[in-house]
Amino acid sequence: MIIKSLKLQNFRNFGKKSFDFSEGSTLIFGPNAVGKTNILEAITLLSTGKSFRAGVEAEMHREGENVTRVTGQTEEPELEVVLVSEAPNPAFGEPRQERQRGGKRVFINGVAKRVFTFAGTLKTVMFGPWDVGMVTESPSVRRRFLDSVLGQVDREYRRSLLSYEKGTRQRNRVLERIREGIATRSQLLYWDHLVIREGNYLSSARERFIDFVNSTTFPGEELSIEYDRSAISEGRLEQYKEEEILAATTLVGPHRDDINFQFSINTRSDSNFQNKSLAKYGSRGEQRMAVLWLKLAELDFIEKESGQRPVLLLDDIFSELDPQHHELILETVGKQQTILTTAEPRKFKKNFDAKVKIIEL
Ligand SMILES: Nc1ncnc2c1ncn2[C@@H]1O[C@H](COP(=O)(O)OP(=O)(O)O)[C@@H](O)[C@H]1O
Ligand SMILES: [Mg+2]
Repeated sequence: MIIKSLKLQNFRNFGKKSFDFSEGSTLIFGPNAVGKTNILEAITLLSTGKSFRAGVEAEMHREGENVTRVTGQTEEPELEVVLVSEAPNPAFGEPRQERQRGGKRVFINGVAKRVFTFAGTLKTVMFGPWDVGMVTESPSVRRRFLDSVLGQVDREYRRSLLSYEKGTRQRNRVLERIREGIATRSQLLYWDHLVIREGNYLSSARERFIDFVNSTTFPGEELSIEYDRSAISEGRLEQYKEEEILAATTLVGPHRDDINFQFSINTRSDSNFQNKSLAKYGSRGEQRMAVLWLKLAELDFIEKESGQRPVLLLDDIFSELDPQHHELILETVGKQQTILTTAEPRKFKKNFDAKVKIIEL
């Protein structure tokens, strides 16, 4: 599925603006702060129902406005996200209690849907400069990535994740009440079963994706990811029960998972390779490369699982990657609809053929 056009109303720095995209590649260029990343954010909002960068959704309202509309025309259907806040715009005015209310509504062909149903209709893979943080930042960043990939291809994963999150919250409450002496251990049983069942679904889906990524190669590099799984089972819950009651927290399960990036370095000249942690030993360039590897694998994984090739969104990545990887990007660009942004088009314009549509901001 491709996105043919995008209509923005009061989204970020845009008042009213429409864009048409090529079914091949579209290059958006313009100076800094003109709204290039905002356009990609709007497309991912249509894809996932969420912003990848707004801490509070109201941030997306154009300053001073409180009704924001993002509409995307795919071949079929039309997707729309409408954000409404009670005035004043809390992102700029006084922080107020209402900011969490107001709300977000999503529509497919004009029919209101739950975000849960809406998400994943249009599939996208986004790659931007901030993604290098995936290697070095906290585990929650990597878990969020896993959830976003699997959530796009598997509705059951989305359901299971919601149920698991709710289940652990409830279970934590029971743990707390046991600690306070107002609940009995048998009251944990129901929640134990639930978090074990959902937790195992989540971790086996995560494992499937990680195995897939490891089955793909990256030119000139030995990269792998290791699944640092926090297994959940009756035995494990039993083992941690006392600690859990003391902490009033569920201590094992996919909410404690992590993935570690590994690369192999030639330790001596006798081709004695060793797997090393990319977060600890890799240069920033090597870390970026690994994320590129992961994103390319993500494209193929989503296609394999859903039968639908995602739209590739590349935000300002040419300034970040080494010239030899530009080549690889350009190869990939032709394999699906791709929307790229850059502040310096001359750098690689010559590499593109005439088929690229250019939007100048
Ligand atoms: N809610 C908002 N209302 C008005 N302007 C905004 C809002 N959020 C961000 N902006 C503006 O959008 C611009 C940044 O857009 P961005 O897409 O990051 O630019 P770039 O073209 O560099 O990618 C900044 O000038 C910022 O002030
Ligand atoms: Mg930008």
